[in-house]
Amino acid sequence: MPEQILVVEDDDNLAFVLCEALQRRGYRAEAVGTLAALRERLTAAPHDLVLLDLRLPDGDGLEAIPQCRELAPDTPIIVMTAYAVRRAATEALRRGAYDFFTKPLKISEIEIVVERALERRRLQQRIATLEASRVTGFEELVGSSQAFVHALETARRGAPTDLTVLIEGESGTGKELLAQAIHRGSARKGGPLVAVNCAAIPEGLLESELFGHERGAFTGAIRTRVGRFELARGGTLFLDEIGDMPLGMQAKILRAIEERRIERVGGNRPIDVDVRIIAATNQTLGQLVEGGRFRADLFYRLHGIQLRLPPLRERLDDLPELINTFLDHAQRKLSRTTATLSDQALQCLWVHAWPGNVRELKHVLEGAVLLSDGVIRPEHLPPAVQTAGVKKLATASATASATASGRSLDETLDDVERQMILEALGRAGGVQVRAARVLGITEQSLWYRIKKHGIQARVTGSPPTGPSEPASLPAARPTRPVELPANAEEALDRSVTRSRSAGRNPGRNRAFKDLLA
Ligand SMILES: Nc1ncnc2c1ncn2[C@@H]1O[C@H](COP(=O)(O)OP(=O)(O)OP(=O)(O)O)[C@@H](O)[C@H]1O
Ligand SMILES: [Mg+2]
Repeated sequence: MPEQILVVEDDDNLAFVLCEALQRRGYRAEAVGTLAALRERLTAAPHDLVLLDLRLPDGDGLEAIPQCRELAPDTPIIVMTAYAVRRAATEALRRGAYDFFTKPLKISEIEIVVERALERRRLQQRIATLEASRVTGFEELVGSSQAFVHALETARRGAPTDLTVLIEGESGTGKELLAQAIHRGSARKGGPLVAVNCAAIPEGLLESELFGHERGAFTGAIRTRVGRFELARGGTLFLDEIGDMPLGMQAKILRAIEERRIERVGGNRPIDVDVRIIAATNQTLGQLVEGGRFRADLFYRLHGIQLRLPPLRERLDDLPELINTFLDHAQRKLSRTTATLSDQALQCLWVHAWPGNVRELKHVLEGAVLLSDGVIRPEHLPPAVQTAGVKKLATASATASATASGRSLDETLDDVERQMILEALGRAGGVQVRAARVLGITEQSLWYRIKKHGIQARVTGSPPTGPSEPASLPAARPTRPVELPANAEEALDRSVTRSRSAGRNPGRNRAFKDLLA
């Protein structure tokens, strides 16, 4: 595609001659005569180069240079100035212009400088592409648990294809991070990755945000605006929180994806858009379809590759690896020499339910590193995280003292079982099926136990049908303060070998080991 040059010159004759000369050299050139028009053009579409006269009817070109650098940081600006004001040219370079010509202009000289500026821009773009291809992005996603690795592997295999991707997962599970990795692992990695949060944009503005609008399309549309679909041409469009997209827009999105073509609001010219779609949602789209809140045809269209990122509570094996990674990040970010966890703080992290998932863990650890003097203790953690740990410890010590006071094994186990059920129901918001999953037992088995203990909790669900399973509560181990997943030690070993922090934080790794001992 020919490179696009914008000539900003109020002398119509000179502007015409310049555009002609540039077009003869194979570039696309367009002229505008004011600074306002320059700003409008840079906002509306990407340009490869700007030729800027300094004296314009609505202001001084020098003043506009920093703003242009902000609007289009990669677009070089070449200034055109009269010989008498050569000092202004030096000032232009200081403000971020690439080069300057003095008037009267020599076309042959202009052609050389323009070509040199464009050549430099091409090289910069190539370097950026090579950099992007070196880092795939998948290595930033930390975790080795089965469900997580499964999602990652599917994403890695699907990345180089041009298939549409749908990522489902609770808030903070890494959907955006995964979308970035898929883009970087695709043939489009040299192109843009443009994100739109469908839930954050008011319904009335969404169409113009996605498809752009023509000048005068509606009150307030004072200039043409390029939409996100167009901005993502040759790259990837990340439609975040697609479950919140209004039904009317869903139909338009479907058409754009199917036809690979859009129309700006107020425009009547179809525009080809070659984009790959990655969509994400923290809801279950299938359920939204059943409830009539999401179009089935769009749902199926998004289904090229479907991924589900598990919540953190379903992949607790990954905690050591994640904790190590985030403590390292925080340590570097806050320039601390050490960041380790006390046993008690670690226990709190193990038993917390992590409703905010990996994002919550990351922020909790950052905050704790900030507050601590190198060793993180429970008081450096947010109250909700502290409470979970303290409650669990109280249960464990109650169990231990019950044993010491001579209560029978059955009585003690009953107490522990009751306490665990109450806690699981609390964590599951009273939903039995979820609480059963947390406890690792069937719903029937949970129902039976709720009855047995006369628990009057605010529970949902009816007595499940089907044969009751034999009791399968995880065995209580009163000697251990906290219940860790059975494969936690293995997970820790993996994390210690895999983590970049391995060896650098012997104290921290010892803390994990001690807890597991
Ligand atoms: N597996 C992971 N490894 C490392 N960091 C992660 C991982 N998952 C998430 N994060 C980090 O957690 C934070 C939240 O991730 P991200 O924004 O991708 O989540 P999300 O699923 O898009 O959340 P939301 O639905 O709220 O937008 C980011 O800082 C991200 O870097
Ligand atoms: Mg997100």
